[in-house]
Amino acid sequence: MNEVYTWKNAPSADFAVIGDPIDHSRSPQMHSAAYDALGLVYRYICVHVSAGEVGEALEHLTHLGFRGVNVTVPHKAEAMAWSKEPDVLAQQIGAVNTVDLITGLATNTDAPGFLDTLLPFGFPPGSNALILGAGGSARALATVLPSAGFTVDIWNRTAEKAEAFAKEFGLNRIESPTANYDLIVNTTSAGLSQEKLDIDWSQHRANTVVYDLVYGQTPFLAEAHQLGLRTQDGKELLVAQGARSFRFWLGIDPPRDVMRQAIQ
Ligand code: ATR
Repeated sequence: MNEVYTWKNAPSADFAVIGDPIDHSRSPQMHSAAYDALGLVYRYICVHVSAGEVGEALEHLTHLGFRGVNVTVPHKAEAMAWSKEPDVLAQQIGAVNTVDLITGLATNTDAPGFLDTLLPFGFPPGSNALILGAGGSARALATVLPSAGFTVDIWNRTAEKAEAFAKEFGLNRIESPTANYDLIVNTTSAGLSQEKLDIDWSQHRANTVVYDLVYGQTPFLAEAHQLGLRTQDGKELLVAQGARSFRFWLGIDPPRDVMRQAIQ
C-alpha cells in the first residue's frame, strides 16, 4: 500500500498520480523503478483528490514545483476541463490522464497505450472488435480502434447510453453480446466486484482475444480461459500508458520490462 497524501498536504515532489480512491495505485512503484533503472532522482507520489477539486489541486501541485501528474478515475474529464492545452486526441476522447505542469500540455496515453498492448497479438487488417461498456475507458478505445483498422461494435448494459455512444463514435450497437469477434474488450467495472457479464460464448472464434481492463483475473477472463481463448488483463495497459506518460514528460522511453516487473 502506498503512502497517500491529500493534495492540500502534499510534500514537494516531481510527479504524482491523482484519483479517488488512490491508495491501490501501482503507478508510484512503476515509475520509481524506471527512475532507478535510468539513474534519475525523481520522486513520484500518490495524491488523493476529491471530485470537484481537480483544478484547485493541479494549481496547487504546480505551485509546489511538480513537473507532471497522471490522472485516474474518476477525474479524467475534470482534468480535461482544467487543461489549457489538451491535444487533439484528448479532446476527441474528452479525457486527460497525463498533464505536464511545466508546459501546460495535456494528453491521453490510455488510448495509444491500449494499441501498444494489442501489437503482440498480431491482428490482421480488417479485424473486428466488440467494446463492452460505454464509460470513460470505452471512449478511449472507440477513438483509437477504428484508426487501427478495426470494425467496432458496442454493447452497454444501459441501452440508451450505448445508442448515444454508437452515434457519437459512428459505431454499430448490438443488443446482446456474443463472442463472435476477433477482439472483445470489457471496459465495464463488473470485474471489480467479480460480477459476471452475460455473454453468448457459443459463437467464439478459435483466435478470439478476450481483454479485460481490470487488473488480474475476472469472471469474464476466467470464462474465456476455460474455452482456451487468449486473454489479457489490465496490467499491460497500466505499463503502456505509464511508459507513454513518462516519455511525454521526460522525452525518454523508459524500460517497460522494469516497469512491468515493478507492478507484479
Ligand atoms: P470508466 O470511466 O472506468 O469506463 P464509468 O464511466 O463509470 O467507468 O463507466 C462504467 C461502465 O461500466 C458503464 O458502461 C456501466 O454500464 P451502465 O452504463 O449500464 O451503468 C458499466 N457497468 C458497471 N457495472 C456493470 C455490471 N455489473 N454489468 C454491466 N455493466 C456494468
